[in-house]
Amino acid sequence: MRITEPAPAKINLALHVRARRPDGYHELETLFAFVEAGDVVSVEPAERDEFRISGPFGAALDAETDNLVTRARDRFRTAFGLPAVAIELVKNLPVASGIGGGSADAAATLRALARMTGIGADNARLYDLADGLGSDVPACLFGRTAMGRGRGEQLQPLTGAAGRLVLLINPGIAVSTAAVFARWDGLDRGPLRTDDVMAAALDGRNDLYPPARLVAPGIDAPLALLEAYPGVVLARMSGSGATCFALFDSEEQMMMAAEQASTQAGWWVCPTRLRP
Ligand code: C5P
Repeated sequence: MRITEPAPAKINLALHVRARRPDGYHELETLFAFVEAGDVVSVEPAERDEFRISGPFGAALDAETDNLVTRARDRFRTAFGLPAVAIELVKNLPVASGIGGGSADAAATLRALARMTGIGADNARLYDLADGLGSDVPACLFGRTAMGRGRGEQLQPLTGAAGRLVLLINPGIAVSTAAVFARWDGLDRGPLRTDDVMAAALDGRNDLYPPARLVAPGIDAPLALLEAYPGVVLARMSGSGATCFALFDSEEQMMMAAEQASTQAGWWVCPTRLRP
């Protein structure tokens, strides 16, 4: 039986960097949200392990080299036991783009393998595996709006943003998360509100934007387009970039902005909605 799991893109509605830790990671307060657009992971029993990548951004990844999907499979097998599986990843999201593509794929792989083997989706060991795969993987495994603390792995569910219109734009620049964090200036600019998702998002910041611009100045162009567009409720860079997003109230205005952005060569433009 073939099992298919969506791997929704994540956006950080706000991302406050509070401190550099002795282990090299950073202490965060971030509002994770997920959109309807994403990659897709399918698994099915097979004679021997197989891994195939397709989709518009499939060529950017190599199925033979180390990948978060095969790493998730291998760790799942060590933890729970697993017969041979064929895995297919449909890569719709740009890679290294601040919307958690690789993390979402790893989380969807864990969810699909858990379904295949009868492991509960809320199994605590699944979260331990996710935590070991990357800072955003637990949030992607949870897959719902949440406040993230610590490296991003301590999650507190939140409600109140579902259904909002979101336009994602990536200017075709891959950005290394480690390179961006390494350029953070070390200044704690204060906490993120926690009372209400939208109020916190509007009141919040992305503290990785200044260091991300140093790594990839091309991030400014999509953000400038979104900030100036009529009907934009909030425009911001997601994660460590380079994808920027804008929340809209009007679908018509969002689609007009999408059309304008689509005229830029090499830009990935994705109108979508926030999931619950
Ligand atoms: O956890 P993950 O492997 O996805 O993180 C990639 C890199 O991003 C880390 O090696 C680290 O340099 C940086 N990072 C960080 N603080 C975080 C999350 C990531 O410094 N909270």
